[in-house]
Amino acid sequence: MEKKNIDWANLGFGYMQTDYRFVSNYKNGAWDDGMLTEDANVVINECAGVLQYAQTVFEGMKAYTTEDGRIVTFRPDLNAERMAQSAARLEMPVFPQDKFVEAVLKTIKANEAYVPPFGSGATLYVRPYMFGSNPVIGVKPAEEYQFRVLTTPVGPYFKGGVKPLTIRVCDFDRAAPNGTGHIKAGLNYAMSLHAIVDAHKQGYDENMYLDAATRTYVEETGGANFLFVTKDGKVVTPKSNSILPSITRRSLIQVAQEYLGLEAEEREIPLEEVKDMAECGLCGTAAVISPVGKIVDHGKEICLPSGMTEMGPVTKKLYETLTGIQMGTIKAPEGWIVEVK
Ligand code: PLP
Ligand code: COI
Repeated sequence: MEKKNIDWANLGFGYMQTDYRFVSNYKNGAWDDGMLTEDANVVINECAGVLQYAQTVFEGMKAYTTEDGRIVTFRPDLNAERMAQSAARLEMPVFPQDKFVEAVLKTIKANEAYVPPFGSGATLYVRPYMFGSNPVIGVKPAEEYQFRVLTTPVGPYFKGGVKPLTIRVCDFDRAAPNGTGHIKAGLNYAMSLHAIVDAHKQGYDENMYLDAATRTYVEETGGANFLFVTKDGKVVTPKSNSILPSITRRSLIQVAQEYLGLEAEEREIPLEEVKDMAECGLCGTAAVISPVGKIVDHGKEICLPSGMTEMGPVTKKLYETLTGIQMGTIKAPEGWIVEVK
């Protein structure tokens, strides 16, 4: 199979239409078998549930080319599980988890020509998503749904690749204590748009959201979880019921403990404690681990000792180990890597 003529090394994090996507419809209480299609457009009624009341959930994952030329994906079972949890919270029918993984693998395989080569710095981003498709005008769940998987080749999420980011403590809240912050619903991202546009206007790369109830604990950013390294070398990540349970973050905790022999824990992290941290990073499928160099809290600057020129040493080891596992140069824990072909 011949690869597309794409300048892989200079890809940003954007949408590029690829050849195939998977589509399955839910009607009369059941999902159909679904199929691949070349049609990138979605045609739905003007009153579809997703358009009126934002009934939509999604996932984000990646396909990688390994050094020996295999195409693999990372822990797709956990994306399937999280999408099921997201759907249930928005009163949507669950797309069966085994079928989810099958659909993802099928879509990646069909778009093999777009999977960036090993060492190019790019990956194929995979976006499974689901939305209410029939007309709804009273506030209630739709009765019909569409599940789709699209793919697009991507480069780094943040321009500048691994250059440390400057983020600000945000005055807007991302998620309410008993709300939807822990699921991957489109609505969480819609409400973060004003905050991110404003952050960019003010010269910041991202927002640090705090817990909405007390505004004293670190939550996450608009598209990634936080990871900190304490001055005594412990990896700590925020624990909260209103942040997305990042698969990257959960994997990194295990990598820290089992591959790097570090202590790692998930616990509440007061904003007040951040000034004492040695390193900070944003972790997620899109972000991988993007280092943070500076956090600005209403004019007060917290400069991480790791600085503004490169990743901190522990962050770097975590990054290299995780990406080594994903790209097949480091042996993965059982079940983490699923081969597409
Ligand atoms: N937090 C938010 C709000 C996200 O959108 C994402 C991206 O998926 C993450 C965290 C990271 O999650 P994961 O590592 O599963 O991609
Ligand atoms: C991902 O990392 O997959 C996400 O969905 C985050 C999004 C901001 C691109």
